[in-house]
Amino acid sequence: MVDEFDTVASWTVAAVRELGPDHALPAACRGSGSPAALDWLADAIGIGPGTHLLDSGAGVGGPAAYVADERGARPVLAEPMAGACWAAQQLFGSTVTVADGARLPFADATFDAAWSLGVLCTVEDKAAHLAELRRTVRPGGGVGLLVYERAVDSLPDQPEGNHFPDRAELEAAVAAAGLRVVETVPLTDLPSTPEDWQRAADAVDDAVERRHRDDPRWARAQDQQDTIGDLISRELVVGVLVHCRAAEAAA
Ligand SMILES: C[S@@+](CC[C@H](N)C(=O)[O-])C[C@H]1O[C@@H](n2cnc3c(N)ncnc32)[C@H](O)[C@@H]1O
Repeated sequence: MVDEFDTVASWTVAAVRELGPDHALPAACRGSGSPAALDWLADAIGIGPGTHLLDSGAGVGGPAAYVADERGARPVLAEPMAGACWAAQQLFGSTVTVADGARLPFADATFDAAWSLGVLCTVEDKAAHLAELRRTVRPGGGVGLLVYERAVDSLPDQPEGNHFPDRAELEAAVAAAGLRVVETVPLTDLPSTPEDWQRAADAVDDAVERRHRDDPRWARAQDQQDTIGDLISRELVVGVLVHCRAAEAAA
């Protein structure tokens, strides 16, 4: 995971500088890729002008920068990989904290809303990660997730560091964290990534490859991405957007 989420993430900065700033957003959305997915979740959890948004597991910061640009949100990024945090600051001037999503350095009810995109499958204790989202969001605030769900009992190839939940495991973790699911939508029901966005992301990947293809860290990260890409294309793992809210306290 360090190769993919720390080292290669930090290499993105030089590639974007080479290709131009219009490549930053597409290159920095590593969990969702698609603006339609970000718009769906942003509408669901009520991201608008001034929304104080926590992005937990923010990676290189593309999704947070997207809602800052498009909606005037005020995102704060939490991400355990220092290289990704550095990249988000370089590319977008983001407000970033190096932190594990299961131990967030924020007081209760700090944020209006929170999201965590493509992160749950990389953490073992999903309920702990989700409980921190619930704790740090004000009562009634929305919590958005992009989850890569396992659609079969067992996977032919399990990428290192990934723990894809099936639907029952996801629902159990959400409930254990004191959240309830309001609505879900599969990524495949939404418009796919626009061609110009995909072209820009591919150009950044190509530039990173040109500079680093002889580095074993690039090869390991690429292997990881190929394995996940294969699972998704065979629909053994499916992307799902989840809109959650804090569960009502028992009477
Ligand atoms: C697939 S990337 C998604 C990045 C970003 N959310 C996006 O959509 O572009 C998964 C991210 O989860 C982060 N991650 C891994 N373990 C984590 C943890 N314990 N707490 C928070 N984030 C974590 C990784 O460092 C990585 O940046």
